[in-house]
Amino acid sequence: MKILVVGSGGREHAIIKKISESPRVKEIYAAPGNGGIADIATLVDIKADEIEKLACFVYERGIDLTIVGPEAPLAEGITEAFEERHLRIFGPSKEASRLEASKIFTKEICKKYNIPTAGFEVFDEPQKAMDYIERAEKPQVVKADGLAGGKGVVVAGDKVEAKEAVRAMMIEKQFGDAGLKVMIEERLYGEEASILVLSDGENIYPLASSQDHKQIYDEDRGPNTGGMGAYSPAPIITDTMYQRIIAEIITPTVFAMKEEGCPYKGVLYAGVMITEEGPMLLEYNVRFGDPETQAVLPRMKSDLIEAIEAVIDGRLNELKVEWDERSCVCVVLASGGYPAGYEKGKTISGLDKVKKLKDIAVYHAGTKKEDGKVYTSGGRVLGVTALDKDITGAIDKVYKAIKLISFDKMYYRTDIGQKAVKRVKS
Ligand code: AMP
Ligand code: GLY
Repeated sequence: MKILVVGSGGREHAIIKKISESPRVKEIYAAPGNGGIADIATLVDIKADEIEKLACFVYERGIDLTIVGPEAPLAEGITEAFEERHLRIFGPSKEASRLEASKIFTKEICKKYNIPTAGFEVFDEPQKAMDYIERAEKPQVVKADGLAGGKGVVVAGDKVEAKEAVRAMMIEKQFGDAGLKVMIEERLYGEEASILVLSDGENIYPLASSQDHKQIYDEDRGPNTGGMGAYSPAPIITDTMYQRIIAEIITPTVFAMKEEGCPYKGVLYAGVMITEEGPMLLEYNVRFGDPETQAVLPRMKSDLIEAIEAVIDGRLNELKVEWDERSCVCVVLASGGYPAGYEKGKTISGLDKVKKLKDIAVYHAGTKKEDGKVYTSGGRVLGVTALDKDITGAIDKVYKAIKLISFDKMYYRTDIGQKAVKRVKS
């Protein structure tokens, strides 16, 4: 098979590495890819949201299957554009992608189908939002309705901060049209986990659990980022808890989407808060998580292509995925300054040394390769991943590997996986 993977992050690198191990895959293309993906796939100079160009490329090259990494092309209808041309593609339709593209759509679904989530109000006028915050008795979370690259959520410490978020989103239009409407949500307390499931519109197939680390600094301090590290499995997700999440959140959502006339076909990622009252939905993403994928896919023993084809063909009830019992930890190495401003073009050294280590993989995100050298080109630069028999072993291994890598102003969290260690020990 010839495969095109759309996207350029660590997630796409992990997907490409995984499918490159499939005996069915002969050629892999990545649009636009990155400096690490370049080692195992042919890079195509088309951006992820250039849907028409991508469709033409796939048609001309006779690509058998396109796998979409990021949410933006899905929200813009890449799936429909490909299907109209009879091109095979993995990713939900534009209508189904509203689960990520519109937080308000998702909340309405939750309300209608009784899916547990935080209470919320929607505002399209800044003054009304400010008045609501002033009157609120409990802490609030301010969210831009549309896509904001994972940065459109402010978990406000107090009313001043909440109002500041409303001002930035609605008046200063920090996220453009994505912040024209905001949602103000009751703050939930508990531990978060990421649940990735496959859905063919009818059946679901749960993948391994994982946990992200969204905040930039250790101990979950500082502003949210796209994700600073992840591990899988997440011990907080016991079998019983997983079953509750499937029964109370995922199954009703997949049912709802079918009822609403937009069946969900693809990978569905539920961000869940495990509260004292049980699991509550924080958000849906309509794609693989980044960096969760870098921690989940190395544990998948079965062929990812088989799983993807089962989704497309509506045969998920026949799928069986085998997992590596070991733990996997991924630590993101970022450019100093991220998630705010940062410099690019720094030379990355040490990658050759890490390549020789067993059970370690380095997934590139913001990198560029020129004349055989690798340079930083984004905020999240690399995701270093280790597999080991348990979480403590994987953490030791990953931080040892990181010591070998360097670039100017490199920054990473030093506590990835510690929540899991505490839970396993207690
Ligand atoms: P979202 O993009 O909606 O998942 O929000 C990003 C992050 O903000 C989540 O992963 C949580 O860490 C935090 N968050 C979002 N909503 C809430 C909430 N209602 N209560 C507490 N934290 C939240
Ligand atoms: N890890 C967060 C995300 O993929 O959105």
